Amino acid sequence: MKSQKITMLGTGLIGTFYTMCLHGQRSRDRVHAIYSRSPERAQTFASQWDIPKKYTDLKQAIEDPETEVVVIGLPNNQHEEAVLLSAAAGKAVLCTKPLGRTAEEARRMLNAVETAGVFHGYLEDLAYTPKTLKALKSVQNGALGKVLWTRSREAHPGPHSDWFWDAEMSGGGAIIDLGCHCIEIGRNYIGKDIRPVEVMCWADTQLKPIDAEDNAIGLVKYANGAISQFEVSWTYRGGMDLRDEVAGSEGNIRTDHFLRTGFEMFTDVGLGGYVAEKAESDRGWLFPVGDEVHELGYNDMFSDMFACLERDKQPMEDFYDGYIVNAIMDACYVSAKSKKWEPVELDIWRGRSDLVQEKLTSDFDAEHFLIKEEILPDGRKKAIIKNKKSGKVSEKLI
Ligand SMILES: NC(=O)c1ccc[n+]([C@@H]2O[C@H](COP(=O)([O-])OP(=O)(O)OC[C@H]3O[C@@H](n4cnc5c(N)ncnc54)[C@H](O)[C@@H]3O)[C@@H](O)[C@H]2O)c1
Repeated sequence: MKSQKITMLGTGLIGTFYTMCLHGQRSRDRVHAIYSRSPERAQTFASQWDIPKKYTDLKQAIEDPETEVVVIGLPNNQHEEAVLLSAAAGKAVLCTKPLGRTAEEARRMLNAVETAGVFHGYLEDLAYTPKTLKALKSVQNGALGKVLWTRSREAHPGPHSDWFWDAEMSGGGAIIDLGCHCIEIGRNYIGKDIRPVEVMCWADTQLKPIDAEDNAIGLVKYANGAISQFEVSWTYRGGMDLRDEVAGSEGNIRTDHFLRTGFEMFTDVGLGGYVAEKAESDRGWLFPVGDEVHELGYNDMFSDMFACLERDKQPMEDFYDGYIVNAIMDACYVSAKSKKWEPVELDIWRGRSDLVQEKLTSDFDAEHFLIKEEILPDGRKKAIIKNKKSGKVSEKLI
């Protein structure tokens, strides 16, 4: 078993979560170099996490001769530069979400890592939460039949740093920040080889004095007829609401990752300590999260990344996935303006192209399709059926 030496770029919220995860459970992988623009912040972070090397120069941090893997936890407008430098240095590179601010940026990043032949991973943690991984396995086993609809919701009172609220630096608002998670969760459930075809999106700036959207709802239509819905908000009060649903022809799954995880607490005096990311208060009814790093998927995500890096395999999420998500979000921004369904423009598509929307039908008898069966309050059972030739709908006691 190998251990990886990591350069961590960024000492903010995600740099902290990633380092907490990597150093948290006596992991053999170590952050051995930290980059921050501020020498004081680099020093504080290095002391806190026992990191031997500190840099205030991005290129030097990436090119550190001992570094094997670069992890990018910088604001969205810095991802491309960090990826291009990592590829040029021949280093494996893992980038946080969203990969780019646009599909064009993401495509350049994908091109750079593929041309350089370096390992690349897209750090989409919410596709790796323990609940999502288990649900995904059930879906892939066929427990829900054909997936018809997914819904993913991420809503909280808004991000914690200035740059998120600057549309130029972040590339948008709640869609680019939170929609990227929701879109990729839906894509995982529907199947990554199914092409996203078109989107319909509503987005508005309902509350905050910003240029970008603070709320949005979108529908992503896939080539096999499945629909994936996302809901995102930067104005939702009371904590971080992270919920997903997936519904298929034979069943459905609902997951709640954060606000209602089975841990509820009331305190009139506070004093409970840190509650959870985006919790707005430490008094009253609280919904703490037991092991936030694990619940948010960081542990399983890095395990997959490093296991695949060492075995020369493709991780569950790589830059190609980040590119597809960016392309879907680009279409959402066009649709929010045009108020119409807009196509998802994909210059690169590596999935199936033979798919059309297929109808699932089951026979009731030789002449009829079965629409559904129903058990009535008095115990009788009936079938609602459709005549194959005439199209007439009727019902029959069975
Ligand atoms: N669940 C997740 O996967 C998740 C959660 C939060 C953030 N993120 C992503 O992580 C990235 C960073 O977000 P964050 O929450 O850590 O933000 P943050 O503001 O907490 O930290 C950003 C870090 O980058 C540094 N920085 C800011 N401007 C810079 C600049 N111009 N040049 C160099 N460094 C600069 C800051 O000093 C800080 O160390 C973003 O891309 C964000 O979308 C992902």
